[in-house]
Amino acid sequence: MAKKTVLVSGGAGYIGSHVTVELDAAGYDVVIADNFSNCDHTNYNGVCEITGKKLPLITMDFCDLDAVRKLFNDYSIDAVIHFAAFKAVGESVADPLKYYVNNLESFLNILTLAREKGCNVLFSSSATVYGEPDELPVSERSPRKPCTSPYGNTKQMCEDLLRDCVSAYPNIKGIALRYFNPIGAHPSALIGELPRGVPQNLVPFITQTAIGKRECLSIFGDDYPTPDGTCQRDYIDIVDLAKAHVCAVARMLDGKMEEGYEIFNIGTGRPLSVMELVTTFEKVNDLKLNYKIAPRRPGDVTAVWCDPSLSEQKLGWKATRTTEQTLASAWAWEKKLAGK
Ligand code: UFG
Repeated sequence: MAKKTVLVSGGAGYIGSHVTVELDAAGYDVVIADNFSNCDHTNYNGVCEITGKKLPLITMDFCDLDAVRKLFNDYSIDAVIHFAAFKAVGESVADPLKYYVNNLESFLNILTLAREKGCNVLFSSSATVYGEPDELPVSERSPRKPCTSPYGNTKQMCEDLLRDCVSAYPNIKGIALRYFNPIGAHPSALIGELPRGVPQNLVPFITQTAIGKRECLSIFGDDYPTPDGTCQRDYIDIVDLAKAHVCAVARMLDGKMEEGYEIFNIGTGRPLSVMELVTTFEKVNDLKLNYKIAPRRPGDVTAVWCDPSLSEQKLGWKATRTTEQTLASAWAWEKKLAGK
């Protein structure tokens, strides 16, 4: 059977690069497209080294409909995985139009071409759509809640765009994967997260503090109604997360979907507090981290973790890597970046 081709928009970024590696390993042809607005070529080069292939790379912006059309004409694309979007929560509050225009326009263009060509669409959504949940763990049937940021709103809106297009156009199928908190790096330490400026997310801030780039980690709040007072999240290893995409693409392309539009939670199902994560990082990497308790960060939810059983049943996917392995990989990547 001919190999199927998967387009990865934003394929040079953190999640896109790990997904590309797993798609290649599973036997798909991968086309990467990225505008390099929030990354350089480090991860693309790492992907080529891991796969041993110079994978096709198109530098383009998905807000440019002509460029998207050319891409879909140049390649026979069976499925597209859409990562190309802005993702900084705080920036989206400060400049909502930047987020609404970029994140919606790019996805509308992809849907337009998916409709024209009859192509499956996998959208990278987020646990942010659950807001502050009433019940834990959250399942896919848990209600979506109002988001606290324009970034979160774009995730909800794109889910709705995909749902409506699937329901109206019979030649499109769609899956939304709702990621919990992706962390860690590829075990080769050739690809990983490359935050620009001061990291907003916990694990890159921890690794940069441990390497000496940041003086001290602030733990945002220790007075939450959780067992140790710090927030709880469902931290999912980036390679495990990437493998979920391969399962989802196979489900779409092998005609296994039970409905035209499906949603899956991608997480471990295990809550971990900020303090537990810090302590595990110290232990597994045999170091001491400089940290202090700071005030709560506005917009943070107290706790969120998922029920991943639907993904296990329907996608045949489940998280396999331990928090220790993941935090060791994050540290190995930071050391590699520092040349240590
Ligand atoms: N945290 C700290 N110190 C830091 C950074 C984070 O204590 O320097 C804490 C946060 O308060 C939170 C936890 O670590 O309790 C995780 O924070 P992250 O920023 O790593 O992740 P979030 O859960 O806030 O972010 C996730 C996704 C976003 C999404 C957001 C919605 O990464 O894409 O949830 O709430 F938008």
